[in-house]
Amino acid sequence: MNYYTLIGPFNQLVTMAGLPLKGPLKDDQLQVIENAGILIEGKRILKTGKFSDLLSEVKVQKAKIIELEGDHVCLPGFIDSHTHICFAGSRANDYAMRNAGKTYLEIAKSGGGIWDTVTQTRKASEAELTSGVIKRANQHLKNGITTIEVKSGYGLSVEEELKMLRAIHNARKDVQADLVSTCLAAHILPKDFVGDHASYLKWISEELFPVLTSEKLTNRIDAFIEEEAFSQRVIEPYFKKALDLGFDLTVHADQFHTAGSEVAVKFGARSADHLEASTEKEIKLLVKSNVIATALPGASIGLGCDFTPARKLLDAGASLAIASDWNPGSAPMGDLLTQAAILGTFQKLTNAEILAGITFRAAASLGLSDRGIIQPGFLADLAIFEIDHFNEILYHQGMVKPDRVFKRGVSCF
Ligand code: NIG
Ligand code: FE
Repeated sequence: MNYYTLIGPFNQLVTMAGLPLKGPLKDDQLQVIENAGILIEGKRILKTGKFSDLLSEVKVQKAKIIELEGDHVCLPGFIDSHTHICFAGSRANDYAMRNAGKTYLEIAKSGGGIWDTVTQTRKASEAELTSGVIKRANQHLKNGITTIEVKSGYGLSVEEELKMLRAIHNARKDVQADLVSTCLAAHILPKDFVGDHASYLKWISEELFPVLTSEKLTNRIDAFIEEEAFSQRVIEPYFKKALDLGFDLTVHADQFHTAGSEVAVKFGARSADHLEASTEKEIKLLVKSNVIATALPGASIGLGCDFTPARKLLDAGASLAIASDWNPGSAPMGDLLTQAAILGTFQKLTNAEILAGITFRAAASLGLSDRGIIQPGFLADLAIFEIDHFNEILYHQGMVKPDRVFKRGVSCF
């Protein structure tokens, strides 16, 4: 039986409805309903409007009424479309070395970096990995993030990648946020693999891909296309195989050197993420495609590198998502709202562009068409802040946290 919940009144309900998927946005394009309420039926939004109107309507419907006191602003629950929150160990030592002058690639070459996390993650049990995912996902939920993408990529063998993806899958029972998993077996060539990049990818695609499908572990394949990771040439047959088997693609693209975004466009990937090194040429390619450009400001902050050229991408007409890249190496902070706000100050992004990047544009990058906007039929995933104007959220650069979060119509706290 479906049940109804009416929640409000909100000083402002920022619906994110009616905005284009691509291109720049001005704050006055945002649909802001004042003195608003949301009527929820089960897990979905039934109606939005003035709280007083909805209140008189629901008297006959036996709705549960959650009447808020004081000032409140409601937004769609946020979506973090790129994380690596399934891992074991710490890379605090890498961070200190990097700040003492070593580069990310130098640290990787000298035995730190991604391989260090692979070693720690392989030592961890599936249950230990699951509890790490639960802990980090719950931290995200407190910050209003109700959908979280989570990658594998620290296992780097058929068995160890499966362990990671099963750990992510198992976390779903204990986490209110939705977890969208992605296989990143093509992260780096594992040091203990006997053979070259192409033979590693062949092994993964032949032995791992079928299990991903049969165990329903993920329908998404990612690859790190970079000089220290996988080249365009070796990734192409891997991506072709993935597409043939029906997987969606996403790419770690143009982080230090270009090539990845070209592959993303060629193979119709959902998103090309990082893009710190993208030039006019890559921006033009992305704009002409349906690939969502994803900025990962947490990696720029963690590594002390340039930000993704978000302003240029938007002005040229691209769609821009913003994600945390939360991982133990390049982006240990994991606070999406702080990172998105900081990207905004350096790249001169409007509030509308930043909020779009962590709501409906992020949803599109995951191929999800049921969230990221507060409108009838969409999931009742809500982030509610005790403030009087939505401008306060990004102004406080992540220090103002939601005081209530709803996931699928259920109050999380
Ligand atoms: O997105 N760039 C490659 N992969 C991750 C980093 C992972 C790590 O350093 O552990 C990223 O930044
Ligand atoms: Fe990443």
